[in-house]
Amino acid sequence: MRNKNSIIVPYIGIKNKDKFLNELFEFIKIPSVSADIKFKQEVLKAASFLEENLIKIGADNVQVFQTLGYPIVYADKIIDPKLPTILVYGHYDVQPADPYELWDSDPFNPIVKKTKIHPQGAIFARGACDDKGQMFMHLKAFEAMYKSNELYCNVKFMFEGEEEVGSSNLEKFVRSNVDLLKADVVLVSDTGIINNSTPSICVGLRGLSYVEVEVTGPNRDLHSGLYGGAVANPINILTKMIASLLDDNNRITIPGFYDDVEDLSTEERAEMAKAPFSLDNYRKALDIDTVYGEKGYSTNERNAIRPTLDVNGIWGGYTGEGAKTVIASKAFAKISMRLVPNQDWKKITQLFKNHFESIAPKALKVVVKPHHGGQGYVTPTDNIAYQAASKAYETSFGKKPIPQRSGGSIPIVALFEQELKSKTILMGFGLDSDAIHSPNEHFGVWNYLKGIETIPYFYKYFTALSK
Ligand code: BES
Ligand code: MN
Ligand code: MN
Repeated sequence: MRNKNSIIVPYIGIKNKDKFLNELFEFIKIPSVSADIKFKQEVLKAASFLEENLIKIGADNVQVFQTLGYPIVYADKIIDPKLPTILVYGHYDVQPADPYELWDSDPFNPIVKKTKIHPQGAIFARGACDDKGQMFMHLKAFEAMYKSNELYCNVKFMFEGEEEVGSSNLEKFVRSNVDLLKADVVLVSDTGIINNSTPSICVGLRGLSYVEVEVTGPNRDLHSGLYGGAVANPINILTKMIASLLDDNNRITIPGFYDDVEDLSTEERAEMAKAPFSLDNYRKALDIDTVYGEKGYSTNERNAIRPTLDVNGIWGGYTGEGAKTVIASKAFAKISMRLVPNQDWKKITQLFKNHFESIAPKALKVVVKPHHGGQGYVTPTDNIAYQAASKAYETSFGKKPIPQRSGGSIPIVALFEQELKSKTILMGFGLDSDAIHSPNEHFGVWNYLKGIETIPYFYKYFTALSK
């Protein structure tokens, strides 16, 4: 925007607000759940929707690249090779909506409802915030800039349909298309801000190692009276093994687990502690009497700069109506470990496997199956990309954003750095309370429009600072 009276602002404003919302609704209505093959046609439909919209808004070179999984949608607008190029990344796949019965409205039929936190209304639907609403802001911001003749630099778009299941095909695509994707910075809106009056920029993501474990006792389910007490019960033992993975201070007991963890300096921790945070509100929002976690760390440290180990699911034996007296042959669990940037996820997966196999009693067989994983990431703040983002938020929010690390993971971001040699700016607009991955996921209408307003400022300042 050349100045406050820019022609983009009115384009984003009254004139197109409803259009921008309605188009997003159409996108959200497509149940593009990547984890469940039942939704295959829908995931493909979401890719086609993006392809069409990119063409409509004036992007060039719109291509849908097939992969072994879901396609990658690419487009660009190169207005002048001498100007900087921004690579926008996002994902059009969503998490499963289950459990459906906990939703107050149809997860794939967006409705706008006012909430305490979103007095101007929030869009309730799966993917509203993660990541359809957030990635779609980039198309609409581009549309506003392009149609107003105020596109400041070159842009490339790359959208995948497998982020929620590990991005394995995108990884191959990035490695083999380095030239096509070359850019001065990668821009991603798939994270959040502290709250609507406290803008922040996400400057850290945790890594992830996700494994599944299976323990097998006897070769068949047994009568728990005839055999109980005389053979190993896989569920009893699996739960004991899992419990031993954390000690009384909630530190992970896997040997070597903390070897590569970077400890933040006292100054860095003091800086972190300055971010506004109310433990009371946090507890109230979750209906818990007290928080829980690693000894010696604050809540914000526990969920951003410290590694964790969590069981995500556990099953085995009889869970139906009534009682069945049985010792199951097998028990299973899915376990995730959130890692901090210096930890190597493949190494951690191996450490887990070695340790978990070593603590199993002889009476059982243990199989550890690694799922997916990825590296953490830290965005440096001493560069023009971060400065441009900071100025962009400052302009649209009227307040300088606070850099803050997040606990979530977007594994592909570390690969962008490794393969494309570009830094990523995580320019998110969601809130922690938006219930991503949960029932009643939502995204503030205000946040959606604020994102569309902020993005062009990033283009503008990044271009100006690149000179
Ligand atoms: N957008 C999220 C990650 C996120 C959310 C980061 C909020 C920071 C703040 C992303 O879609 C996601 O859910 N990632 C997964 C990892 C993936 C490999 C399944 C995650 O963090 O569990
Ligand atoms: Mn996401
Ligand atoms: Mn997600």
